[in-house]
Amino acid sequence: MKPLRIALTKGRLESSTAKLMEKAGLDCSALHDKGRRLILPVGDSLEAVLAKAGDVITYLEHGVCDLGVVGKDVIMERGGQFFEILDLKFGKCGFALAAPKGADFYGGYGGKTIATKYPNVARRFFQGKNMDVRVIKIEGSVELAPLLGLADGIVDLVETGATLRENGLMVVEPVAEVSARLIVNAASLKLRKGEIEDLAARLEARLDK
Ligand code: PRP
Repeated sequence: MKPLRIALTKGRLESSTAKLMEKAGLDCSALHDKGRRLILPVGDSLEAVLAKAGDVITYLEHGVCDLGVVGKDVIMERGGQFFEILDLKFGKCGFALAAPKGADFYGGYGGKTIATKYPNVARRFFQGKNMDVRVIKIEGSVELAPLLGLADGIVDLVETGATLRENGLMVVEPVAEVSARLIVNAASLKLRKGEIEDLAARLEARLDK
């Protein structure tokens, strides 16, 4: 049987996943000593593929990876055809609506402009409030947009809150909680159900409470 292929989001989620797999008794030495390699064996029944978050979902949807580890933020923004089977409880942060400190975001009658890396998440949030807002997509350091006068607020990830604080912004309202999720290709879940459920159970047993 060929190994199950698991796509990991490169960076922090990748190292947290490696730690968890190790706790579950899988040999992750190749992941620790990977050099520039992008496909690495994990134990003798898994193969890890290192990819950007959005690409984890693309590889999974096309069936070239069976499993994936990706943030709920990317799942919420991108959507897709797959099953989310486990909350891995790391990579915790939250989406929030933030605005300049002291500003009355919901006050006044003018239309609001929101800057964000996550336009779908932002649109859905304001649709849920029946609020018509203009959404501008920004690639990173979204906190700049209100400081430069481009936007009234931002919808962004907040972890410690330091970036907001140090840039004179404040949370107006939380939008959603985020953490890493284990996702599975639909066909793989049918064809290799036993192996996948076994792996998920082993990981779940070792999760932080
Ligand atoms: C994320 C997020 C915030 C910051 C929040 O940005 O977009 O800017 O982290 O973290 P904090 O609440 O702990 O300060 P990231 O570091 O991914 O960079 P980017 O904005 O350039 O994408």
